Amino acid sequence: MGDMDDDDDHDDEGGDGEALADQQMTTVSRHAFGDSERTAFSISIIENMKEDYGLFVWPCSIILAEYVWQQRLRFSGNRVVELGAGTCLPGLVAAKVGSFVTLTDDANRLEVLANMRRVCDLNNLNCEVLGLTWGVWDASIFSLHPQIILGADVLYDARAFDDLFATVAFLLQSNPGSVFITTYHNRSGHHLIEFLMVKWGLKCVKLLDGFSLLPSNKAARLNGNIQLAEIVLNHERIEETFSSGAG
Ligand SMILES: C[S@@+](CC[C@H](N)C(=O)[O-])C[C@H]1O[C@@H](n2cnc3c(N)ncnc32)[C@H](O)[C@@H]1O
Repeated sequence: MGDMDDDDDHDDEGGDGEALADQQMTTVSRHAFGDSERTAFSISIIENMKEDYGLFVWPCSIILAEYVWQQRLRFSGNRVVELGAGTCLPGLVAAKVGSFVTLTDDANRLEVLANMRRVCDLNNLNCEVLGLTWGVWDASIFSLHPQIILGADVLYDARAFDDLFATVAFLLQSNPGSVFITTYHNRSGHHLIEFLMVKWGLKCVKLLDGFSLLPSNKAARLNGNIQLAEIVLNHERIEETFSSGAG
């Protein structure tokens, strides 16, 4: 699913058939950021076509990474946590522009977490890598103090929405002023995001067509209806809940 120049990264050392097949499914994609005049930097991502989900660079991730680059002044010097990071392109761009980044994914998906560490090393970026399963309250989540939470293509399985938003709402509540920035495939108009906002006492403060912010060379390689949303706590809703609870 990588969009940029794909460079084969096969290591021809031999080994047993399964290991060789696994290597042959591995590629390194390169993702460039900059203005139309020149590339500022590239990020290399190790992808494995054999695996599902966490080992591809999904289109939502390319759009969110581009947004981070375009908003780089806002990211510089801030603490960022990426949820369901997978191949973690947005988080790596945040690190590149000066954020203090914690990359997280399902604590049970050890191969995804290992790949995240490899990708950090490959790009010489010093990010923390953490197993964080949505809706699970391990000690580590209490030590996170993000100002910006990122999530690319994390709204894809309705069975996980409540766990994901429980984690997002917890992080937003425990870090006043923080924001959740997510890209998602808009498959049901805006009904899904509206429903989730109301349910979790959140509000959407920015909603963009993901393709509107992509340079044409990146947009030409992707398709789908992808939205970018910035989400914060809806304080009015929280006050209403407390006052009706108290009354
Ligand atoms: C569709 S992939 C998106 C990966 C990456 N953000 C991207 O856009 O390229 C969804 C990601 O969410 C992670 N994930 C799924 N369920 C999760 C859970 N319950 N807790 C934490 N991460 C989860 C998967 O491991 C996977 O990396």
